[in-house]
Amino acid sequence: MINIALPKGRLGKKVYDMFAAAGYPCPSISDTNRKLIFENPESGIRYFWVKPSDVAIYVERGAADIGVAGKDILMEYTPEVYELLDLNIGKCRLSVAAKKGFRDNTDKTLRVATKFKNITQQYYRSHCRDIDIIKLNGSIELAPILNLSDVIVDIVETGTTLRENNLEVVETILPISARLIANKANFKFKSSRIEDICSHMKLQCSASSEGERTYD
Ligand code: PRP
Repeated sequence: MINIALPKGRLGKKVYDMFAAAGYPCPSISDTNRKLIFENPESGIRYFWVKPSDVAIYVERGAADIGVAGKDILMEYTPEVYELLDLNIGKCRLSVAAKKGFRDNTDKTLRVATKFKNITQQYYRSHCRDIDIIKLNGSIELAPILNLSDVIVDIVETGTTLRENNLEVVETILPISARLIANKANFKFKSSRIEDICSHMKLQCSASSEGERTYD
């Protein structure tokens, strides 16, 4: 069996569709129930749904052989995994954003709200800017509106959340996309199957990148 950790939520369906089109379908996954594990014994594949930010943990510790995680998570937590392939889906950016018209007063420590503490620290350190990090777990856009922070560092996909809350991008830190990752030890034992999956997925990436959206 190859154990594959799929990210639940908006990216998950796209990722599963890609595996299915690559030749690794598991029809029972479309059943409407609360099951988390789905197997296709004929193709020797077992999928499980996990929280997107947990995929790298399952893979790093070998509970999953492979999985799909965003580059943001890989940069933030630097798990010991192999990054096999850029799937070219789940494209977004990690950006600094603030209320419209915001001007940074460099005499003061900048208050930054984010889920991405490590990336944020590295980014501002490289700019020699003193910051006070406010670690939040969601709805980050609220922070500057309620004056909890001056800016946020957060994911921007369509830009709708920023727009609808009168915020705007100040700077882009990192372009993000979904990556196929593998457990280092399991990759050795199951290398031919994992490499097969990777090359079939690669064909799907080139097919799906035709006509893809680009962001400025
Ligand atoms: C993410 C991110 C932004 C939003 C960006 O939040 O943190 O809030 O998506 O998407 P957009 O540019 O297409 O509007 P998510 O939906 O994961 O929820 P969260 O606020 O709980 O993090």
